[in-house]
Amino acid sequence: MAQNWFRYRSPEEIRADAKANGVHIPLAESAGVLREKLSFGSVTLENRIGVAPMEGVDSLPSGAPSELTFRRYGRFARGGAGLIWLEATATSQAGRSHRYQLMLNEKTLPAFQRLADGIREEGLRQNGFAPYLVIQAHHAGRMAEGRPMVARFYPGRDEKLRGFTGKLVSDGELEAVEEEMGNFAGLAKKAGFDAVEIKCCHGYLLGELLSAYERPGKYGGSFENRTRLTRNAVKAAKVHRDARFLVTARLGIRDGEPYPYGFGVRKDGGDAPDMTEPVRLVKEFAREGMPFLNLSLGLTLTAAAEKNPLLDLARIADLTGQVKKACPEMTVSGTAFSYFREFAGLHAAGCVEEGVCDHVLFGRMAFADPDFPRELRDTGRIDPGKTCLACGGCGRLIGARKPTGCVVRDRETYPVRE
Ligand SMILES: Cc1cc2nc3c(=O)[nH]c(=O)nc-3n(C[C@H](O)[C@H](O)[C@H](O)COP(=O)(O)O)c2cc1C
Repeated sequence: MAQNWFRYRSPEEIRADAKANGVHIPLAESAGVLREKLSFGSVTLENRIGVAPMEGVDSLPSGAPSELTFRRYGRFARGGAGLIWLEATATSQAGRSHRYQLMLNEKTLPAFQRLADGIREEGLRQNGFAPYLVIQAHHAGRMAEGRPMVARFYPGRDEKLRGFTGKLVSDGELEAVEEEMGNFAGLAKKAGFDAVEIKCCHGYLLGELLSAYERPGKYGGSFENRTRLTRNAVKAAKVHRDARFLVTARLGIRDGEPYPYGFGVRKDGGDAPDMTEPVRLVKEFAREGMPFLNLSLGLTLTAAAEKNPLLDLARIADLTGQVKKACPEMTVSGTAFSYFREFAGLHAAGCVEEGVCDHVLFGRMAFADPDFPRELRDTGRIDPGKTCLACGGCGRLIGARKPTGCVVRDRETYPVRE
């Protein structure tokens, strides 16, 4: 359905549609700002374009990257993004979403070393620089394939979880996850990544805890308790931090769920956004020395936005900008830039120019057209014949637990099988 919405023939059409809908969509005259370098801490990124974490559902049974994984990241490396944010990588078997999800442990470490080295070599060979490499530490929580680890009850949804025992994951088990995240960070450093990301978004374990308002004990209730696992995981990972290796986060600032199940919403009922708590957490991260992070809004299509996703994109830019403007000390990477097809670069550049974010991550665009960063650099525009159509095909593959990529532009590798 979405592909019907984003068939704009010019930036003017986007502007006119935004005006007709009474929303603001940042849209630059040129994508030039994305070519600029970006510095934070001791790091300088070659440009402001990043590849978002995108699961490929193609690991070996051990959790090590397969040939298909190497192919995906080789394509991203050659594309010329200044940063590649590697996908959800399980911190343990218990935290794995499914059996084709990457998993980093002592056994798979050598394969991840080869992956990181390979990406750098390809980047250097093709573009003259190695992209900055972040890897995402993932614990699936209630979406774990083995036993769902439910952090807070969600009536109506819990009953549908296979293997749900009716019990919440205990505080002791959550403490063990803090340690797991720390170990993962040590392995990520050994593997040669530049940074580890503590994932707290999209309803997985750490993200779910952010809205555990009604959970008893030290991980539920107050802001301090609900953010405890995330903050402690960041602390555990920071043990490995040095001038070369950083700790970052992907924070879901609004997950689209109403109070008392959602984060970043008003507490007087409904799902009206309220950035007070996301801002507080980002400020704490900054105080603890985290120099940059990514903000995400998960799957937040509201009833109105499902009818017209333009409304949702306006909201994503607005809320991301609210957090960035309240936390100018944090370098912020923004999310969800693949929608506007060949004009996607103009939207991303508009967000940077208007101070919504400092950096941009493209997800589905990288599957469809891994060369989009080079096209933006060389021509200022993404090739209309190669662009992502936001058709949802990659999402259906991941849902079916099949190797995931672009079913339109890369269909020989990712055929649609009924
Ligand atoms: C097939 C697929 C896999 C994804 N895998 C991950 C993932 O591993 N980790 C994550 O944080 N987000 C994941 N996402 C979300 C993306 O990183 C991104 O936020 C989202 O696709 C919106 O950005 P886009 O409009 O540029 O695609 C995934 C999305 C899709 C469609």
